[in-house]
Formats: sequence, C-alpha cells, structure tokens
Amino acid sequence: MHPDLETVLLTKEQIEQRVTELAREIGEDYKDKNLVLVAVLKGAIIFMADLTRKLTLRHSYDVVGASSYGKSTVSSGQVIITKDIDIDISNRDVLLVEDIYDTGRTMKAVCDLIWLHGPNTLEICTFLYKEKSRPSDLPVKYIGFRIPDKFVVGYGLDYDEHYRNLECIGVLKKQVYG
Ligand code: IMP
Ligand code: MG
Repeated sequence: MHPDLETVLLTKEQIEQRVTELAREIGEDYKDKNLVLVAVLKGAIIFMADLTRKLTLRHSYDVVGASSYGKSTVSSGQVIITKDIDIDISNRDVLLVEDIYDTGRTMKAVCDLIWLHGPNTLEICTFLYKEKSRPSDLPVKYIGFRIPDKFVVGYGLDYDEHYRNLECIGVLKKQVYG
C-alpha cells in the first residue's frame, strides 16, 4: 500500500471487474444508439481510458475541462469550464464520464454546456458516487461504486495534483493534507 494512504477502499482487481461490467451494460443499452463518451478532465481520463477499451460497440470519445477544487479537500462551489468539446455531437447519444459525483455541481455545469451542443440524449456515468444528502440531485444512470463521504484518491482522483496514478482507490492519511 502507498505510504500516504490510511486505507484502500477499492483494489485494482475490484475496479477492473466493475469497469468490465459497466462496459457490458453500456454496450447493451447503447447498441442501437450513436454513442459518444465525454470525459471530464482531468480526473475521469483514467476511467474513460479503461471504459472505452472495454466497449466493443462503435463509439467516439471527447473531453471537457471543468475544475472546482484547487488545493483543498472540500468543493469550492464554483465550477469553471476550461475546455469545450471538439467533435460534433448533434443528434448523438452522449454519456458523460466522471470520476466522482460529490456535490453534483460539476456535473450540472457540464450538462448545461453539453445540452447547448444539441445531443439526442445525455446521461451520466460516474465511477464513484459519494453517499451524502444533497439539495438537488441529477439522475445518474451508471454508478461504479457508492462510497462513504470521505476524501479519496487514486484511479484519476487527486489531492493537489498527486496520486492520480494509483491503481486503487484509497483514503489519504490526515497528516498528508494537514
Ligand atoms: P462536485 O462538483 O462537488 O460533484 O465535485 C466533483 C469534482 O470534485 C470531481 O470531478 C473531482 O475532481 C473532485 N472531487 C470530489 N470529491 C473528491 C475526492 O474525494 N477526491 C478527489 N477529488 C474529489
Ligand atoms: Mg479533481
């Protein structure tokens, strides 16, 4: 285990198995559609890289940039769009790919942006979903894992731009973020 971690919540093997299941489910649901995966930078690129290679149906992918956290373990509340999509998604079926659904503010901002491009359908696939009460909730179609409301890192998720490369999902030791 990485020395900065307190616990491992999800192992590499558990993650791989779940991503395979999700890909199968998505492949089935979208077989008569025109799928485009849109991952949210930067956290979701690892998840998307695994998901896209496990999907056997014809599809495209793109990325959007959104950022809200900075060097903190609590959401700042302000979502900034830093990059729009490049490909034409009009009349296509967009599946937003996110690393973690926390307050839902990032997803709301990204959904508002994507709708402006005129997709046929728009759904959300999040690798992690934090169990907590929220003032409002967006419908999330696919959830990899439901986790407790703790700050986690790995598999794309960072603390101050580190730990994204860990192959597991872990909880950081308190002393790491002081
Ligand atoms: P939301 O807008 O509050 O839903 O936050 C979503 C974004 O915050 C995610 O895309 C992550 O980048 C970041 N985030 C939320 N929770 C965590 C966490 O536990 N670890 C690392 N990043 C997180
Ligand atoms: Mg982040």
